[in-house]
Amino acid sequence: SIIAVIAFVFGYLFGSVPFGMILTRLAGTQDLRSVGSGNIGATNVLRTGHKRLAAATLVGDMLKGTAAVLVAGSLWGPAAAMAAALGAFLGHLFPVWLKFHGGKGVATYIGVLLGLCWATALAFCAIWLLVAFTTRYSSLSALIASLLTPLLLWWLGHPQQALLFAVLTVLLWFKHRDNIRRLSAGSEGRIGAKA
Ligand code: G3P
Repeated sequence: SIIAVIAFVFGYLFGSVPFGMILTRLAGTQDLRSVGSGNIGATNVLRTGHKRLAAATLVGDMLKGTAAVLVAGSLWGPAAAMAAALGAFLGHLFPVWLKFHGGKGVATYIGVLLGLCWATALAFCAIWLLVAFTTRYSSLSALIASLLTPLLLWWLGHPQQALLFAVLTVLLWFKHRDNIRRLSAGSEGRIGAKA
C-alpha cells in the first residue's frame, strides 16, 4: 500500500543518518574510512580510541531505528512500523548521503527490534554480550545474535517479525562478509585491540 511506501521512505531517512561519520567529524578525529575496518559503526569508532564517541554512535545508530519504528507505528499502524524498520535498516546500510556505502547494521538492527519487540532486543543484547565477553569479537557476536533473533521471534509467536528479521539477518551477514573471511582466517581484530 501507499502507506507502507511512505513509512519505508520515512524510515530510510532516519536510518541513513550516519552518526559515526557525523560525530567523528564534529570531534575532528581521523577519518573513519581510514581506521581499522573502515566501517562507520560504533565498533570502528572505538578503534579511534574515543570510547564516548563510540558509545554515542551506538546509541544514535540504534535509537534512529527505534524512533522510526515508533513514530511510523503510532502514525500509521503496525504494518507501517515494519515497513519503517526495513527502511531504517536499509538506510543505514545504503545511505544516499555516503553514495550508498553505509554501515553493517548491528546497532540499527537492535534499534528497530527494540521498537517492534523489546524482549527480543534484550535477548539480542544478552547473546551479543555473552559472545563478546567470551571471544572479544564484535562481528561474531552480532552474527550469532542476528542468527538467533528470527528463531526467537518465531518461537515467541511473531511470524511476520520473524520473516522481516530473517531478511535483515541475511543483509547483515552479507555486510559482514569481510569479517566472516577474517574470522575464518583467524585475523579478525578483537575488541580492545589496537587498530
Ligand atoms: O558493528 C559492526 C561490527 O559487527 C563489525 O564492525 O568495524 O569490526 O568491521 P567492524
